[in-house]
Amino acid sequence: GNKNINAKLVLLGDVGAGKSSLVLRFVKGQFVEFQESTIGAAFFSQTLAVNDATVKFEIWDTAGQERYHSLAPMYYRGAAAAIIVYDITNQASFERAKKWVQELQAQGNPNMVMALAGNKADLLDARKVTSEEAQSYAQENGLFFMETSAKTAANVNDVFYEIAKRLPRV
Ligand code: GTP
Ligand code: MG
Repeated sequence: GNKNINAKLVLLGDVGAGKSSLVLRFVKGQFVEFQESTIGAAFFSQTLAVNDATVKFEIWDTAGQERYHSLAPMYYRGAAAAIIVYDITNQASFERAKKWVQELQAQGNPNMVMALAGNKADLLDARKVTSEEAQSYAQENGLFFMETSAKTAANVNDVFYEIAKRLPRV
């Protein structure tokens, strides 16, 4: 029969990578050019139907500013899934994403479904991180990888859909 799954999901990544914008696109179908930097964290929920299940995502959109780093474990602890976001036009944000992956590998739930999202894929002319580099990093570390654009909506629903498909069916 059809299963109902509740899944806590956390977004982590550098300031300005586009975490809030991805959530706003997924939850409300909107995009704003001047999205305000998140203070602490913000909570959203959204339901997604996949073949055999209805997944209710309980989404924690964390703040990328370094002064909030110590709060992060509250949001990733017990999470079934994480989306680690970087900005394809910003090499430092890719390095920051790798640090988040390391932290989750060390401290997170070992069965966590992890996605690496290379966001701002609409800004191809300003690209600094190649998709090959990110794809091979993701593969080596057991994440799945997609390039997304919160602005154009490219691959945004797809990331959540892929996660929903990979969540354990209890
Ligand atoms: P913090 O809350 O500070 O950690 O940042 P964040 O990761 O939530 O980033 P946010 O969603 O606030 O986006 C930062 C800026 O990037 C905003 O001005 C967005 O409009 C812009 N932005 C986000 N996603 C995209 C995208 O896919 N393409 C483009 N061109 N701009 C984007
Ligand atoms: Mg934010």
